[in-house]
Amino acid sequence: DPEDTLKSRPPVVTIMGHVDHGKTSLLDAIRGADVAAGEAGGITQHIGAYQVTPKGGDPITFLDTPGHEAFTEMRARGANVTDIVILVVAADDGLKPQTIEAINHTKAANVPMIVAINKIDKDGANPQKVREELLQHEVIVEAMSGDVQDVEVSAKKKTNIDKLLEAINLQAELLELKANPDRAADATVVEAKLDKGRGPVATVLIQRGTLKVGDTFVAGPAAGKVRALVDDHGRRVKEAGPSFPVEVLGLSALPSAGDPFTVVENEARAREVADYRQRKLDEQRTTAAPM
Ligand code: GTP
Ligand code: NA
Ligand code: MG
Repeated sequence: DPEDTLKSRPPVVTIMGHVDHGKTSLLDAIRGADVAAGEAGGITQHIGAYQVTPKGGDPITFLDTPGHEAFTEMRARGANVTDIVILVVAADDGLKPQTIEAINHTKAANVPMIVAINKIDKDGANPQKVREELLQHEVIVEAMSGDVQDVEVSAKKKTNIDKLLEAINLQAELLELKANPDRAADATVVEAKLDKGRGPVATVLIQRGTLKVGDTFVAGPAAGKVRALVDDHGRRVKEAGPSFPVEVLGLSALPSAGDPFTVVENEARAREVADYRQRKLDEQRTTAAPM
C-alpha cells in the first residue's frame, strides 16, 4: 500500500506469563469486567480478543492466550499478529519456566515487551527480586536503567491499571502502527468454534482493510460470505477495520487459529482458494500418516 493510504491503527497486545500469575485477572481489571470468575476453575479455555479504550487514551486490542501455545503456533504459521507483549509476573512467585519461555518467544518474535509485576498487594510480594531475575534473562527494566517499561500492578485491587495502559499507549506511539483501511480485508483467525445456534464462528483480527457484511472470503480451507459481524461487546456491526477483533458468521467449515482470513472478489475465486488450501492440508495429512 502506498504511504498516503496508511492510517494509524490500535496496537494489538498479547498478555503472556506463567500459569496463575494473573493474566486473565489483569485483563478483567483492564476491561472492568470479571470474566475469570465465570471460567471453569478459573482456567482460560480459549483465546479472547477485546478492544479497550481507556479513559482519555486510544483504543487497545488485547488477546488473552491460554498460555503461549497459541502465540507460538500463530508465529510458526507466519501470523505475527501481536505488536506488544505484556509479560505478567506474580511478585510473590517470581520468574517461572513459562515466564522464561514467554521471554524467549517474545525476543524471537522481535516484539517489544512491557512487564506487569502483578500481585503487589500480597504479603510475599517482592517486585525488586522480580527485576533482578529479569536482568538475569537480559530483560532490563527501566527501574534497572534499561528500556523495558515495568509497572507494578495488582489486578485484584486494580492498582496502577491506568499506568499500565499509559505504558502501552507510549509503546504504541513509538511503533507508529499503520494500516490501510480502504481496501479488501486481510485478517487472521484467532479463535474458531462450532456454536450450537450459529454454526461455525471465527473470531478474526483485521490486519488491513475493512471487513464488511456481505464480503466473500476464504478462512483457511473454509470459504464463505459474511452473514453477520459481532463485536467484542456482542453487538452486531456492519464493518470492522484494522486491529479490530470481530466474530464472523457465515463460514462453511471451521478454520484454525492462525489461519489467514482473506476477502476475495467472488465465490468462484473463494472456492478455488479454499479447494487449494484443502488439498494442501490433505497432502500434509497423507504425508504425516504412518505407513
Ligand atoms: P491461567 O490462565 O490459568 O494461566 O491463569 P492466569 O494467569 O490467567 O491467572 P488468573 O487471572 O486466573 O489468576 C490466578 C489466581 O491469582 C486467581 O486466584 C486470582 O484471583 C489471583 N490473582 C490474580 N491477580 C491477583 C492480584 O493482583 N493479587 C492477588 N492477591 N491475587 C491475584
Ligand atoms: Na488460572
Ligand atoms: Mg487465564
